[in-house]
Amino acid sequence: MTDMTEQEERLVAAAIAAMGQAYAPYSKFPVGAAILDEGGGIHSGANVENAAYPVGNCAEASAIAAMVMAGRGRINAIAVAGGDGKMLCTPCGACRQRIREFAAPDTPVLISGPDGLQRRFTLEELLPESFGPENLG
Ligand code: THU
Repeated sequence: MTDMTEQEERLVAAAIAAMGQAYAPYSKFPVGAAILDEGGGIHSGANVENAAYPVGNCAEASAIAAMVMAGRGRINAIAVAGGDGKMLCTPCGACRQRIREFAAPDTPVLISGPDGLQRRFTLEELLPESFGPENLG
């Protein structure tokens, strides 16, 4: 993909690999996410569903937990991979806000299918006029 940096290509590949680790027996809709942190490290996660359906976790939430547990606190870019490549698997509303906690409005959000990048957004495009930690002073 020519419109991605090498780091972004690695990030998208990590999200696609994470998709393969999903536990999604109910929806049968595996999703992977990968975060590029402020030190250049990559943290990935997948959706983890539950027989009590609302208890399941999204891939983005898993990746954020992995980043925090690794001692990092900024999302410089995030890739999400899901679906069959026909429709975009953009983060759900709750995950947009989860990402916002650790990211800036211009942070890239790279949306992929199983075969690679489909579309690039900024977080601001997905979550305009957002409320973040800075609002709390
Ligand atoms: N899902 C994610 O993990 N991330 C997204 O961006 C969209 C949806 C999961 C939640 C659920 O396990 C499955 O995909 C179907 O909604």
